[in-house]
Amino acid sequence: MPETVAERLRSKASADAPKLVRVLSGEALWPPPVWLMRQAGRYLPEYRELREQAGGFLDLCYNPELATEVTLQPIRRFDLDAAILFSDILVVPHALGQDVRFVQGEGPQLDPLSTRDSFSRLKDAIDLDMLAPVYETVRRARAELARSKALIGFCGAPYTVATYMVGGRGGEEQAPARLMAYRDPDAFADLIDRLVEASAAHLVAQLKAGADAVQIFDSWSGDLPSREFSRWSTAPIAKLCEKVRAEAPGAKIIAFPRGAGAKLADFAGAVPADGFGIATSEDLHAARSAVYSCRALQGAVDPIALVAGGAALDRAVDDVLEALGRNPLIVNLGHGVRQETPPEHVARLVERVRAA
Ligand code: CP3
Repeated sequence: MPETVAERLRSKASADAPKLVRVLSGEALWPPPVWLMRQAGRYLPEYRELREQAGGFLDLCYNPELATEVTLQPIRRFDLDAAILFSDILVVPHALGQDVRFVQGEGPQLDPLSTRDSFSRLKDAIDLDMLAPVYETVRRARAELARSKALIGFCGAPYTVATYMVGGRGGEEQAPARLMAYRDPDAFADLIDRLVEASAAHLVAQLKAGADAVQIFDSWSGDLPSREFSRWSTAPIAKLCEKVRAEAPGAKIIAFPRGAGAKLADFAGAVPADGFGIATSEDLHAARSAVYSCRALQGAVDPIALVAGGAALDRAVDDVLEALGRNPLIVNLGHGVRQETPPEHVARLVERVRAA
């Protein structure tokens, strides 16, 4: 284990720190803290109502009053242990000068940066003034939350954000970014470096505004072969963590390399994060042995079991508690809450964890 991790873990969080922060400091708590990725969103009627008032999705992200409200909605309804800032990973390319649009029903669209020449359309550094409303949302949400609840800030991992910037959209369209990485690795490395800088500045600003922890979402790197994964996912995320801690010493960081599978052990060996997100498809025991035992794991209830509810959901929750509960654990899903999820099922999941 790198010395910096050992040193950080030695300075345990105080007993009145939020449970999530204590677990990220290496404590195993029972029952473990619970929050869900995409816990604020379209499955909640109160979100849909507010979303209509706001106009576009980005208008909502840049409106501190409404974004604070959306951040707190799932805490009020379900008493979860952490709120996650309501925003999106694509505000970083937006603040780097790229055009970003959210089209209803189609997901995000960006003007693709398909060649190195097109990088000249980007600003030299992230425009943090443009993101001032996001940091104001962090300040307001932190002020309204009870001290026992954590507020999580976040960004996308450089690779995942780059796939949207190069391809213009996500999902299967990662092919354009992967092609650039093979054909012109220097150009792709330039983009990744810019994203490491921009993301570090964005995370530090959230931590300074009051976020108790930050999560780095790497949604698309799991598909990469090992060599590409270590170059474009592991190394940039490790550098991002170091840059954040240089400016915000002791910052609590969760890395979520979705679908890393057998690549998780190398990833966790190189990335000095305090917690690691585990996707639905991972083997829980393999994930536990891949990560040094005092560092937290977060996951990995199947979001579709959450849609199903009932005994299937109870079993899915129990499996996570049984496999990972003896070590530092944050109960979460293996990916975000789906739109068709009945809100009562989220209440049932929280109840099941608390009764454990
Ligand atoms: O509740 C939370 O988790 C906090 C807010 C949050 C959102 N997006 C809000 C959102 C977070 C942490 C994200 C992360 C994000 N955004 C990721 C990484 C996690 C993952 O899902 O893999 C990615 C890849 C994005 C990019 C993105 N934003 C996509 C692909 C989409 C469209 C898909 C969809 O569900 O519509 C978005 C839009 C988006 N981001 C919505 C929300 C609530 C839906 C927008 C709406 O209300 O219409």
